[in-house]
Amino acid sequence: MFSKDYSRKSILDQNFILSLLALQLAGCGCSKEKEKTYSSPTPVSVSTKLPWYIKNYYSEPTDNPTTNEGIQLGEMLFNEKALSADNTISCAVCHDPKKAFSDGLVVSKGINGILAPRNAPGLLNVGLQRKLFWDGRDTSLEQQSLHPIQNPNEMNLSIADAVRKLEKTPTYPDLFGRAFGSQQITGDRIAKAIAQYERSLMSFNTKYDRFLMDQYTPTAEEKLGMELFFTHPDPFAGLSGLRGGNCGDCHLQQTLTGKPNGFESFHNTGLLETGGTEIGLQKVTGQASDFGRFKTPSLRNIALTAPYMHNGKFATLEDVLDHYNSEDLFGKPNVDILIQKGTNQKFGQSLMLTASEKKAIVAFLHMLTDSTYIP
Ligand code: HEC
Ligand code: HEC
Repeated sequence: MFSKDYSRKSILDQNFILSLLALQLAGCGCSKEKEKTYSSPTPVSVSTKLPWYIKNYYSEPTDNPTTNEGIQLGEMLFNEKALSADNTISCAVCHDPKKAFSDGLVVSKGINGILAPRNAPGLLNVGLQRKLFWDGRDTSLEQQSLHPIQNPNEMNLSIADAVRKLEKTPTYPDLFGRAFGSQQITGDRIAKAIAQYERSLMSFNTKYDRFLMDQYTPTAEEKLGMELFFTHPDPFAGLSGLRGGNCGDCHLQQTLTGKPNGFESFHNTGLLETGGTEIGLQKVTGQASDFGRFKTPSLRNIALTAPYMHNGKFATLEDVLDHYNSEDLFGKPNVDILIQKGTNQKFGQSLMLTASEKKAIVAFLHMLTDSTYIP
């Protein structure tokens, strides 16, 4: 069960007590150890481990190259409940590795049970993204990672307090030394280590990848689902029309997410009524035309990250398919044109996929699960 030690408990809880004991035994806490010297950390090339069709999407900042020691420290910090005010919440509480780093809740629960306004996205392959959060308000993992720690509704700890708590442990100063060359702990280094760990969470061992590399033959249902997924329907094409689910219009090719840069791949999929406080991308750009637009999430490992959508509205993939197939979306002015006008029937008033077509698309979505990531 502890093969990768995903369930690592706060090492602070145990080690803090040990270090207090050690100080008492030493008689005083003033015998400060001499600063150790550290050799350079071992670089890790994340991009060389990616399939050829993904490599180009990956980049890392020049001032934070990924290293083994950085990833190790980042993983500890990601699981560290001491980074919350009451030692109960770590990143992993809301981004659980067993659920492809999501949390299985409609909306996340932070410190003191406070509910987040949105559903926690999974974090596998998050290193490929240039726009973070459902509304794209952040652009780098380094920038992002300190926000939940300080957010009063999530972990509620100032960075100064986070640094102080980690400094008091017997383990962390050494781990920072190994990762960054000196034992100094700073907010910047916490952010960098967490970001390195997140960039290491790459997942491309799925049936779909094996298919792309000619190593897997899909079943008839998976094949139909894949074709429907990537086809934009046209009932007027040829004699019997071209059937499709138009999913691939937005969840693109191999990444199965939108374009990484800009807001072009943010869409309104008809989940919101006007007048509420949730406005999506409009909050970031200030433009009324961006009402209800959200980032197109990757569908990789989607079978592991229910419930679905920014508001966790749908419990199952079947519910999601019923949504895209529903008449409510047709002709609705705010809804994306690709959805508003996509239909499989001449003059149809909805997407009009059949039950077996929806089932086939769901079978394709199950091809996107990376079994190596289920501990
Ligand atoms: C209380 C639950 C909670 C905690 C704790 C939490 N997150 Fe999140 N995380 C969320 C939610 C909810 C979102 C989506 C918020 C939004 O889009 O407005 C999110 C979004 C993200 C994203 C953006 C992903 C994407 O696809 O855009 C990253 C990266 C992330 N979190 C990393 C972290 C890290 C690192 C920590 C710890 C330092 C952390 N989270 C702690 C709930 C949480
Ligand atoms: C116009 C672009 C567009 C089309 C077409 C589209 N999607 Fe989406 N999809 C999105 C966006 C944007 C979201 C996030 C919406 C939100 O949460 O507000 C999303 C969310 C999802 C989710 C939930 C993801 C998660 O992490 O919660 C699934 C599953 C999904 N889409 C599957 C499909 C399938 C299957 C089809 C085809 C039948 C499809 N999509 C067609 C843009 C699109």
